[in-house]
Amino acid sequence: MSHKTNKFYKILSSPFIYSTFQKLMKGDKIRKKILELSIKKKNPKILDIGCGLGDSLEYIENPVYFGYDISKTYIEYAKKKYKKKGVFLCRNFSQKEIKRLPKFDYILLIGILHHLTNDQILNLLSNIKKTLKKHGSLITLDPIYMKDQNYFARFLISHDRGKNIKTKKEYLRMLKLFFKNSISRTYNQSFIPYTWFSMSCRN
Ligand SMILES: C[S@@+](CC[C@H](N)C(=O)[O-])C[C@H]1O[C@@H](n2cnc3c(N)ncnc32)[C@H](O)[C@@H]1O
Repeated sequence: MSHKTNKFYKILSSPFIYSTFQKLMKGDKIRKKILELSIKKKNPKILDIGCGLGDSLEYIENPVYFGYDISKTYIEYAKKKYKKKGVFLCRNFSQKEIKRLPKFDYILLIGILHHLTNDQILNLLSNIKKTLKKHGSLITLDPIYMKDQNYFARFLISHDRGKNIKTKKEYLRMLKLFFKNSISRTYNQSFIPYTWFSMSCRN
C-alpha cells in the first residue's frame, strides 16, 4: 500500500471529504496554477496518473484525456462527474498499459510521487518515457521537506497520506536520470503554510 491507512486517512477515501480537504489546503489552487502555466497546446493528449477525482480536467481545454488511479471510489466518482470528457481506469499504470495507449503531449503526476517508493518512481518514469511524445512534457507537483521550513508546514506535510515525502534534491536526482531538461519551482504557501514542489520535464 502506497499510503497511510489509519482511521483518519480512511475518511479521505470519501470523494466529498477529499475534495473539501484539498480545497482547504489550497491544493486545487496550486494545481490550477501549474496546469495553466504548463499546458499551452490546443486539444492536448493528456495522461493523468494518480488522477484522483479527475479534477485536473477543470483546467484543461478540450483534451484527449486518460486518467489512472488505484482508488475504485475516486475512479467511479470521476466517471460520473466527467462522463465522456475522459477515459478513467482503476489500474496501476504499468508496462502492459503502454501498448494500449497513444503517445501523450503531457503526462501529469499531480500529488502522486510522494506516495511512491524510489523503486516505484524509477519504474514509473521508465514507463512514462516510453509513453511521452518526442516533444512532450512530464508535469509533477508534490509537497517537499526543506531546510529552515516553516514549522507548521513541515508538521502538515509529515502527516500527509503519502508515505514517501522527499526533498527537492531527491526528486531532481531521479528525474534527471530520465529527462535532459527540467524546470523546477518551489512554492511556499503562506496560508495554510505548506511547501509545494513542481517539475516540468522534457526529453
Ligand atoms: C494526493 S492524491 C492526488 C489526486 C489528483 N492527482 C489531484 O490532483 O487531485 C494522490 C492520488 O494518487 C493515487 N495513488 C496512490 N498510489 C498510486 C499508484 N501506485 N498508482 C496510481 N494511483 C495511485 C491515490 O489513490 C490518490 O488518488
